[in-house]
Amino acid sequence: MTYAAITGWGKCMPPAVLTNADLATFLDTDDEWITSRTGMKERRISHVPAIEMSYVAARRALACAGRAAGDIDLIVYGSCSYDEMVPNTASALQYKLGCDGAAAMDVNTACTSFLYGLSTATAMIRTGVVKRALVVGVELISRYMDWDNRGVAVLFGDGSAAVVLEATDEPIGLLGETLGCYGDARGILRVRRGYGATYANANVTFGDMLWDFDGPQIFKRAVQGMTDASAKTLQKVGLRPEDIDLVVPHQANARIIESVAKYAGIPMEKVILTVQKYGNMSAATVPVALVEALEAGRVAPGSNLLMPAFGAGLTLCSHFVKWGARTTPVEASDVELPPCDKTALELVNEIRATKDPRGRSLAGIEAAYYVDRKAYGVQ
Ligand code: UT7
Repeated sequence: MTYAAITGWGKCMPPAVLTNADLATFLDTDDEWITSRTGMKERRISHVPAIEMSYVAARRALACAGRAAGDIDLIVYGSCSYDEMVPNTASALQYKLGCDGAAAMDVNTACTSFLYGLSTATAMIRTGVVKRALVVGVELISRYMDWDNRGVAVLFGDGSAAVVLEATDEPIGLLGETLGCYGDARGILRVRRGYGATYANANVTFGDMLWDFDGPQIFKRAVQGMTDASAKTLQKVGLRPEDIDLVVPHQANARIIESVAKYAGIPMEKVILTVQKYGNMSAATVPVALVEALEAGRVAPGSNLLMPAFGAGLTLCSHFVKWGARTTPVEASDVELPPCDKTALELVNEIRATKDPRGRSLAGIEAAYYVDRKAYGVQ
């Protein structure tokens, strides 16, 4: 039987740090409220487009696996912050990386996009469609944020990470998962916006940047969804909570994570937390936490990992991954982001200052989307 081992991993975090105190300079909020309600202290704001972050993360994951771009047959790009409706962003990453001929697809299930992508790529490897895949989780939420809305502006951050999957005969990698969606509640977490396609038009109709966000309802559904999905996944793979070595959960709120761990019967010592330093990075959250767990030596050969997540849709899932023998990179990549000469607050204030006559932020559409357009196959 064929399985899909995770053989490479890498993250790319933008360097500019936005603190709770920074947010309080333009929002009616404070460190005490944000920390006590969410566990968040800081988040990152990117000075580059999402595709740049994902490129660096992907190069690091490839080096970690000891693979060249040409070895990859499939790219799955998990994200909900992209600027063009057509073509997909995976094709830009394929071109930039030089994964010539590789299949390239985007998956947008919001915060669960990376894990839905892991399911997709694993299934394609296990059925013999492809042999090696790159799965990315990346978000540039700062450009789509409604920075005037304190109910959401304090919660999110930018970031990216990627993994390489390879066919193997060993029973490792993603061995069981539960996927689901509360479509009845899709309206309680919604970002209404247009796309950059209208930007080139002189009679431009800019998209909305309006967030519908019912925090308490999302909270309840998140705990329920991640808890139920985790119980089902454990049942599918025939394991008990005490068999799990590490939980790598989506990080939208420390209180949500604590509730899920409690209901799942897994102590918090076995849970990796990044929410305090990165906030909620949507699709990038779980892969960044996974990379950090590896870097911190919290994943051992043969570790049993549980990865519950939820997001807009409201999509939900919980993945069980059996780690392989190797927990250290084969090689390191020397690829870096260009330096950032601004503070995170300066970057956010630039976005806030760019408003159309209706008072909406244009920065998401302008977004310096392709810094070097030719490098991404854009004429
Ligand atoms: O992955 C994406 C999914 N997102 C999530 O999972 C988020 C799930 N929800 C949550 O994490 C929490 O519901 C929040 C952190 C968003 C909010 O916490 P809460 O304890 O549910 O607060 P709340 O929405 O019930 O608001 C309580 C109060 C309100 O004031 P009043 O009406 O009681 O006077 C809000 O206006 O807190 C106020 N508030 C704030 N105050 C200071 C809301 N945002 C802020 C803020 N600073 N940033």
